[in-house]
Amino acid sequence: MIHFAEKSGQIKPGGIIVEASSGNTAIGLAMLCRLKGYQCRIYLSKSGGEEKESVLKTLGAEVIRCKTSGGPDDPQSSQYMAAKFAQETSNAFYCNQYFNEANKQAHFETTGPEIWKQTNGKITHFLAGAGTGGTVSGVGKFLKSQNKKIQISAVDPEGSVLTHYFKHGTTEGFTGQPYYIEGIGRNFIPGALDNKQIDQFLQVSGQKSAEAAFKFRNHTGTAPGFSSGAVLAALHDIRHSLKKNDHVVVFFADKGDRYTGKLYNPEWLETYLFSAKDWPSFFNRYYNSAVTHA
Ligand SMILES: Cc1ncc(COP(=O)(O)O)c(C=O)c1O
Repeated sequence: MIHFAEKSGQIKPGGIIVEASSGNTAIGLAMLCRLKGYQCRIYLSKSGGEEKESVLKTLGAEVIRCKTSGGPDDPQSSQYMAAKFAQETSNAFYCNQYFNEANKQAHFETTGPEIWKQTNGKITHFLAGAGTGGTVSGVGKFLKSQNKKIQISAVDPEGSVLTHYFKHGTTEGFTGQPYYIEGIGRNFIPGALDNKQIDQFLQVSGQKSAEAAFKFRNHTGTAPGFSSGAVLAALHDIRHSLKKNDHVVVFFADKGDRYTGKLYNPEWLETYLFSAKDWPSFFNRYYNSAVTHA
């Protein structure tokens, strides 16, 4: 997004890059800003974890915490506040990852070709979480341009509007509910999402995503992020439809050390994610025994 904005003259030397983010896109931008000499101002959405805020501050970005997550029309949301600041400030550029064509174009030009090359063109299925939709749409478009048969799946948390929109082509009739997986799902339709490149939406619960993350951690010794757990849960749901020689690529947007306060904190899990009925069995399974290889 920065490269496109530079090329089109939307960013001038010494300018301020502004973005609304749950944290990860912001971290990428903060790194680039250091390298390129821009200031970086991030409006962090309500759901963004403290770990991401710390990384941003370590990189020297200015972080403004937003109170709500109501989408671009909500005056207290990250998107609204970031857009307003950029409008009112000279030499500021609002990246606007939710509606910036360069978001999915970057995945079309880089992430998609990388996956194609690394799998020697053998990939048959691609699964990624959808937040802005840029990853799954851009990668999906590239992979389908190489082989139309590659199955592209977007992963969405229960409570998000994106699956309803994919199925019905409208947001009407949708009633949302809170969800806690950072980075995926929305309560509005981002312009970066291109449903034409996507074969199916797979919706998963927070509990199933946590369970998949813990299983993966115990099998591999590597802790995935929460949305990566969601992608693993979705893979688990479609496992019976896969054939022996299928070549499945699952996309992890980040990693577990950005979730020490939530996904990997038993108090948070018990308070926010599990019902009193479900918590004891999860706790016994993943906290009382260090060697669960379910
Ligand atoms: C943790 C996490 N997972 C998934 C995504 C979704 O990626 P996209 O916005 O390309 O749909 C993001 C986006 O930043 C993210 O931070």
